Amino acid sequence: MWLNLRAVEERLETRFVGRHIVYLTSTTSTQDVARAEAEEGAPAGTLILAEEQTAGRGRFGRTWVSPAGKNLYLTVIMRPEVHRARCLGIVAPLAVAEAVEDVTGLSPRIKWPNDVIVEGRKLAGVLIETEVQGQSLKYALVGPGINVNFEIDEASDIAGIATSLKRELVRDTSREELLAVFLNRFEMLYESAPEGGHVLQEWRSRLDTLGRHVKVTFRDHVQEGLAEDVDADGNLILAQPDGRRVVIEAGEVTLRG
Ligand code: BTN
Repeated sequence: MWLNLRAVEERLETRFVGRHIVYLTSTTSTQDVARAEAEEGAPAGTLILAEEQTAGRGRFGRTWVSPAGKNLYLTVIMRPEVHRARCLGIVAPLAVAEAVEDVTGLSPRIKWPNDVIVEGRKLAGVLIETEVQGQSLKYALVGPGINVNFEIDEASDIAGIATSLKRELVRDTSREELLAVFLNRFEMLYESAPEGGHVLQEWRSRLDTLGRHVKVTFRDHVQEGLAEDVDADGNLILAQPDGRRVVIEAGEVTLRG
């Protein structure tokens, strides 16, 4: 069944996020549509929403499995000052985790930096793409994908590492409610992020990664060590076996033992 946009709008409590919606039954990737809209001058908060993606993508050029009518695939166009762009990588997964908790009672964890996981399997991911012009940021495209009513066992490639709310709860979840709660949380957390460290602390307290021995891969570069902490920008602080500490801005974490 297709999304009931009116039911989403009725629940919206935001000032600007989701106040302009571009809704598509099928597209390549909501990130592509968002980029075109942003280039055309779409206002901050514009939401691109698709029922299906034929070329949904994840971080590191991976494919995001995006069957029709089951899950949430969206991109929010943001136009932050350059110094606020980093907080999007904290705010977006935290808003997903809190919205899932609010709507379902599950307590998702976050795998640094922005995978949302339940029972060790990935429920949602966030792709953030930015366009820079000189010293300033033209826009940021914040794209969460959440596995909602997807019978994940039908997707044999990812069934071992991914999950959906359907798998966890053995019932359907209202995509409209989850989407509206996410948009409300996302704007609220984004607006309150500069007012001290509580957003960072909320995100940190959900991180599954801290205190674990990890391998962090970024392009061809691999670093191993103890995931000690995160800094105020959300970077991972890794204590290496020789005692040196490195600050890691981006990468893919694999847990070791
Ligand atoms: C990841 O964990 O690798 C990020 C996955 C992000 C998937 C979403 S679905 C909506 C948006 N459009 C895309 O093509 N990707 C993101």
